[in-house]
Amino acid sequence: MEDPFDIVILAAGKGTRMRSSRPKVLHLLCGLPLLAYPLRLARNLTSREPIVVVSHGKDEIRETFASWPARFVDQGEPLGTGHAVLAARSALSAPRFFVLPGDVPLVPPQALQTLWARHREKQALASFLTLELFPPPPYGRVIRDEGGRPKKIVEAPEASSEELAIRELNAGIWLLENHPAVWEALAQLAPENRKREYYLTDLVALLYPRVEAVLWPNPEDLTGVNDRVDLARLESLLRERILTEWMREGVTLVDPHAVYPSPDARVSPDTLIFPGTFLLGQTEIGPRCQIGPYSYLVDAKVSEGARVWFSVVEAGEIGPMAQIGPYAHLRAGAKVGARARVGNFVEVKASRIGEGAKALHLAYIGDAEVGARANIGAGAITCNFQPGKAEKFRTEIGAGAFIGSNACLIAPIRIGEGAVVGAGSVVTEDVPPYALALARSPQVVKPGWARPKEE
Ligand code: UD1
Ligand code: CA
Repeated sequence: MEDPFDIVILAAGKGTRMRSSRPKVLHLLCGLPLLAYPLRLARNLTSREPIVVVSHGKDEIRETFASWPARFVDQGEPLGTGHAVLAARSALSAPRFFVLPGDVPLVPPQALQTLWARHREKQALASFLTLELFPPPPYGRVIRDEGGRPKKIVEAPEASSEELAIRELNAGIWLLENHPAVWEALAQLAPENRKREYYLTDLVALLYPRVEAVLWPNPEDLTGVNDRVDLARLESLLRERILTEWMREGVTLVDPHAVYPSPDARVSPDTLIFPGTFLLGQTEIGPRCQIGPYSYLVDAKVSEGARVWFSVVEAGEIGPMAQIGPYAHLRAGAKVGARARVGNFVEVKASRIGEGAKALHLAYIGDAEVGARANIGAGAITCNFQPGKAEKFRTEIGAGAFIGSNACLIAPIRIGEGAVVGAGSVVTEDVPPYALALARSPQVVKPGWARPKEE
């Protein structure tokens, strides 16, 4: 595809069949909103910004994709796929453009390349991809003439019973010339059908015989999401594709039916993944790790040989051979060093845990720097927040320091290298290296204070 082309993504429809208050293209597939898929495809094929036609839920859609390269065009009242293409006209500048439905997520770039090659070879004005499915879903039926050339598309609601028996279906993926003849044909569309919509598919009859239809052999690639049943089917299909690739690359999955990947997640060979594991966002897992069972990782980075089990990791980084869990929660900015151990109801946020450090029971570590080999006792917490103040205060714990059980470190505070904080202390002042800090009321013992009860 050497010449420049634009890409128009149709995302303005109501998505009535989803029965949802949120726009269809924001429903999630393997953790990504549906619209992310055609946007990724576009990014894959061209550096030109794709044009996204929106209407229902347009603010929510724009907000969700604010950081993506895309130009949004408002269709106003969405009156059909043909009307949507007309809405994109002023944003187009290349000599030809693809039209992608926002609700068909698994289209491979090769399908568009094949469509392009045929379209260019035949110098067509319009070309579209087709698929064969049985039993056929309510997609547009492709009617060809005796020479095999597409003559028209009949939408399912208008199709006769013979037409409904046709297996070749319109995939809704088009390549159109940005040419007066095409715009004239689009201007002639009329909403004379059951849905009272301007069907893009009527273009075929209007531009016949300068139309090409290319049958794509793998129908799964071109199936769309019209309702939640379709969504669940595509979810399991995409999941299976991603996981099959991982297994082929050397990742062990104890049960591939119980691992939930994002298409952007990466896992290195010889890692073992147990059931109940979600690897979402841009999660990256190094080699020889053990992940799961029952773990939820989003945008996490896990280095080689680390283990994460029964835990939640959100945008955290885990060093080589570190052990997270069971029941740890690493939040944004948590960086756990090599061979460190965090688990048994420990929460870590915006903190660096040094190499070989341990926080193994019921602790909260927030906005802290924990030195190498430090030991955080059961129930110890960094008190990083003072009521009435917006900022979070930092805690520094030196290498090899020992924080006793149930200690409260009131930030901002520094605990020196090798220092010891006694159990139950509420520490408000810095502790020098190798010192012992005790900040609790001394024990009082009153002999015989309680008289034994009479039987
Ligand atoms: C469409 C095709 C059908 C094809 C099927 C394949 C038409 C008339 N029908 O049917 O031939 O077999 O896709 O999946 O083209 N949209 C807008 N603005 C609108 C209407 C729709 O942007 O005014 C968007 C929708 O958000 C959706 C896409 O266009 O992303 C397709 O619309 P949809 O209503 O789902 O069409 P289908 O009934 O699936
Ligand atoms: Ca659809």
